[in-house]
Amino acid sequence: MAIIEMKGITRQYKNGQIRVEVLKGIDLRIERSEFVSIMGPSGSGKSTLLNIIGCLDNPTSGIYELDGSSIAKLGDGTLCDIRNQYIGFVFQQFHLLPKLNALENVQLPLIYRGLFGRARRRAAMEALEVVGLSDRMNHLPSQLSGGEQQRVAIARAISMKPFVILADEPTGALDSNSGANIMSIFHELNEKHKMTIVQVTHDMNVANHGSKIFRILDGSIDHVEIINEKVLV
Ligand SMILES: Nc1ncnc2c1ncn2[C@@H]1O[C@H](COP(=O)(O)OP(=O)(O)O)[C@@H](O)[C@H]1O
Ligand SMILES: [Mg+2]
Repeated sequence: MAIIEMKGITRQYKNGQIRVEVLKGIDLRIERSEFVSIMGPSGSGKSTLLNIIGCLDNPTSGIYELDGSSIAKLGDGTLCDIRNQYIGFVFQQFHLLPKLNALENVQLPLIYRGLFGRARRRAAMEALEVVGLSDRMNHLPSQLSGGEQQRVAIARAISMKPFVILADEPTGALDSNSGANIMSIFHELNEKHKMTIVQVTHDMNVANHGSKIFRILDGSIDHVEIINEKVLV
């Protein structure tokens, strides 16, 4: 069953009188518990597409169904709830708060979700355990390597047990060893925790970890490459 389904999604920006069409009719179907990659040249619309998938941005036209519900019909409040419940974001630049330690950074979204006290601490510690950082939870971001900071950011993204992880160049700021480590965490989230993973990357080695690659060219999906067929259970 598709968890993400798009038909004819467009996104236009207006710069004064000039209208720029950044997405030009995207058709996309991602099954529940799939792990897929999106590749394409800089400026082709990858981040715009990921933001729409993550309900951070609205399409100009087209149909987007997340887990069978049409997103266009929902108001801001419901959209926010859906985002909290369904989506975990991972970015190239980690976006951790520098004055908070790892455990506090991971707890942030749980505060917004209304989780308090021991339950919140426990959920954050569980997430840090999944990424193998239980022994670093009192470290500040500045006391962690880039790879470790990205693992904290992943722990933050999964602390609310989302169905979907959206990652925009998750290994873009990392050396290849740390990048490989992030990929093995993604595999564990995908295979053991059944999370759907959608990652944007320009690195073929990273892209090949997914079961297929959506190739974006100038705001459209040019073609889809099947890397390895996965039997979804
Ligand atoms: N808020 C915006 N206003 C106007 N143009 C934008 C805006 N955001 C992105 N764009 C343009 O949309 C195009 C695609 O951007 P983006 O999705 O970030 O590409 P990618 O992630 O593939 O590099 C770029 O040409 C960019 O300049
Ligand atoms: Mg981008």
